[in-house]
Amino acid sequence: MTEKFSLEQIREYWTRQALQHRQSPAASWSDRMAVELEIREISKRLADGDRVLDVGCANGYSTIQFATKKRIRIRGLDFVPEMIEQARLQLSEMSDKLLGTVEFDVGDVTALDREQNRTYDKVVATRVIINLGEWSRQLKGLRECARVLKSDGIFLLPESHLAGVASIEQFSIGMGVARHSYAAIQSVPGSGTRN
Ligand SMILES: C[S@@+](CC[C@H](N)C(=O)[O-])C[C@H]1O[C@@H](n2cnc3c(N)ncnc32)[C@H](O)[C@@H]1O
Repeated sequence: MTEKFSLEQIREYWTRQALQHRQSPAASWSDRMAVELEIREISKRLADGDRVLDVGCANGYSTIQFATKKRIRIRGLDFVPEMIEQARLQLSEMSDKLLGTVEFDVGDVTALDREQNRTYDKVVATRVIINLGEWSRQLKGLRECARVLKSDGIFLLPESHLAGVASIEQFSIGMGVARHSYAAIQSVPGSGTRN
């Protein structure tokens, strides 16, 4: 049985990760190679000129990397202030390497109150929906991401394993989501096989 964590436990865990790992990609995942593969695969789907929202951006390591590869306007949000503090520090050190613009703010993906409807060309949610604890909150988060996407925008959902990609595809078909409006990305090649 999968153990459920309370919102407070989830917040405490990620606060500890921010304090321990500071600006390292290990704040979000200890598998550095997998993080780099995620960045590579997501970047392929971003285009110059895009407005991008990166929800649950942790310490902003990947968010900043996207803006060193594409001329995008990207906004990273995380609900842990200590993560955003590290993201802003990292941004100040990387500013000369950016092609696009980056900003960070504290924000909750289940209540994107400061974001207007239909604003973004792409919304990125990397290993975040799984952190929302229970299905009702996950659904709320998914709905908020859909709300802030432009009508022709794309929701980018990286999964390191093919089984995860297949689940996203099945869910989207069940919900009647148009195939062009999301990308379930397998970020780690060769991890898992299709049934
Ligand atoms: C696995 S890390 C995210 C990794 C990051 N997207 C990346 O690409 O490296 C999960 C992040 O989600 C954040 N998070 C969890 N619940 C959240 C919520 N309700 N709203 C915003 N961020 C949340 C955590 O603080 C943590 O930084």
